[in-house]
Amino acid sequence: MFVYKKKSAISSKSRVFPFSRFTNSKIEDFSYIGLFAFVNNTSIGKYCSISMNFKSGLGIHPTSLASTSPIFYSKKYAIKSSFGFGRLKTVNEYKRVTIGHDVWIGADVIIMDGVKVGNGAIIAAKAVVTKDVPNYAVVAGVPAKCIKYRFSGEIISKLEALSWWDWSEEKIKKNKLFFTNDMTLDLIDQIKD
Ligand SMILES: CC(C)(COP(=O)(O)OP(=O)(O)OC[C@H]1O[C@@H](n2cnc3c(N)ncnc32)[C@H](O)[C@@H]1OP(=O)(O)O)[C@@H](O)C(=O)NCCC(=O)NCCS
Repeated sequence: MFVYKKKSAISSKSRVFPFSRFTNSKIEDFSYIGLFAFVNNTSIGKYCSISMNFKSGLGIHPTSLASTSPIFYSKKYAIKSSFGFGRLKTVNEYKRVTIGHDVWIGADVIIMDGVKVGNGAIIAAKAVVTKDVPNYAVVAGVPAKCIKYRFSGEIISKLEALSWWDWSEEKIKKNKLFFTNDMTLDLIDQIKD
């Protein structure tokens, strides 16, 4: 089924579901994006679960010029004109979005340009994310606010230090308990190399 892909790296161990547009972006191993995604200028780490209607890297129009229309500043604007002001003003239309590892994003989420989402974060359905999201934070709403953290500060520090998303598939298989039980400090102490 159709996925429009341009200047992008989609890992063979990841999945972008149909009717999605994926440009200037990358998605790493074991991550997926649901139906009807618009993903632009975005880096997505490993083990991310991104639900349907996701949008990131939508672009920025300047708000301080006489007009917000790209016809006055963009060289790549879809509508032809004879104004030709493109070279007079440099506007950074796209700032990269970065999504860490093991991030769960609910349905209908928008992430604004330039935002960094930390490892292990959860973004609630229908959120509009306008600011960076800390590691393991759960954010919700418009604009998205932190409603809680998934784990204690001590566990979050240990998970970050572990960076389990970089483990080999062999090491992951050896540590079935770590992935199939509720998180505790004891569970972290039982990890096998
Ligand atoms: C973010 C989420 C995981 C939180 O679940 P949870 O940890 O069980 O949290 P709770 O349901 O206890 O909600 C905690 C608070 O956040 C609020 N909240 C939950 N989801 C919200 C949302 N999408 N938008 C705004 N507020 C939300 C709750 O109303 C509650 O508020 P309160 O403390 O004032 O009562 C869940 O609500 C969500 O959005 N899941 C995504 C579902 C989805 O899109 N699935 C698609 C398939 S992957």
